[in-house]
Amino acid sequence: MAFPTHLRLFEMGARDGLQNEPGAVIDTAIKIELINRLSECGLRHIEAASFVSPKWVPQMGDAAAVMNGINRKAGVTYSALTPNLQGLEGAIAAGADEVAVFGAASEAFTQKNINCSISESLERFAPVIERAQACNIRVRGYVSTVMGCPYEGETDPAQVAAVSRELLDMGCYEISLGDTIGTGTPLKAKQMLEAVSKQVPIEKLAAHFHDTYGQALANLYAVIEEGIAVIDASVAGLGGCPYAKGASGNVATEDVLYMLNGLGIDTGVDLEKLAQTGHWITAQLGRTSGSKVALAIGCQ
Ligand code: HMG
Ligand code: MG
Repeated sequence: MAFPTHLRLFEMGARDGLQNEPGAVIDTAIKIELINRLSECGLRHIEAASFVSPKWVPQMGDAAAVMNGINRKAGVTYSALTPNLQGLEGAIAAGADEVAVFGAASEAFTQKNINCSISESLERFAPVIERAQACNIRVRGYVSTVMGCPYEGETDPAQVAAVSRELLDMGCYEISLGDTIGTGTPLKAKQMLEAVSKQVPIEKLAAHFHDTYGQALANLYAVIEEGIAVIDASVAGLGGCPYAKGASGNVATEDVLYMLNGLGIDTGVDLEKLAQTGHWITAQLGRTSGSKVALAIGCQ
């Protein structure tokens, strides 16, 4: 199949990235500046915050202040995670353009991450999706552990397909497939996608791959070949998941962008500016960028 001419990048750095920073809680002003800089790079979809319990994820405790503090650039969608109605009400009050519910294909991970079973999670998401839709807010659905679980090992693609289908039927406009611990390889990614795309049209699927084993770019190439045209990525490769020990961040947005540029796939994002943004945020965090491309381009 031919590659798409255009692909949508969904920037995860401010949420999936910063949620997992160890140590002191990052200043709200730094988060706000990161999001503003990301929007100046041409990114049109930015996950900005997470309205989860601050006892569970202290780094996201200032979600409302972050959402209220950013410069809303026209044409940019600022989204937030909302695990339940309480989170949704917070996100609505803070003016989130879009929200996301997040489940998983593995029972054990669901329990550790959101403290309930898969079926309970879907029951919990139903009123969240209903209320968001009543407010004309689109809901994205995440499915974690699509290529492996830190507690259960292998994931059955049929289970990923079943949870994805449920979320779609409940009203999610798009399902983002999370390789939470980055254990996937290209063939596995294709096989997983083959199973899911029998249940959910491929144009409603996104790839959300973490790079723990250095496979994310190869896995992305494999699923783009199959028709995926939405990719989640994190500037400088920030992040991980607090409930998946050892998981490193999403694939670096700069690295994905460099690959897409090479394939002639348009994203509307400025690589140079993005690399500088990655250098800036990692300097704030006291380390170097996790993007190989950004390191190669260098810091100006
Ligand atoms: P729970 O303890 O079962 O919830 O947590 P609860 O309803 O029993 O409430 C307990 C307390 O939490 C109460 O406060 C609530 O008010 C409060 P208390 O009375 O004890 O003072 N609470 C909240 N506070 C603020 N905002 C809320 C909220 N909800 C309850 N929304 C819950 C259940 C889902 C809340 C909890 O498990 C949680 O917050 N989990 C979040 C975990 C998380 O954020 N994980 C990382 C994001 S997922 C991810 O990174 C994967 C992804 O990137 C894809 C991939 O890579 O695979 C998306
Ligand atoms: Mg993630």
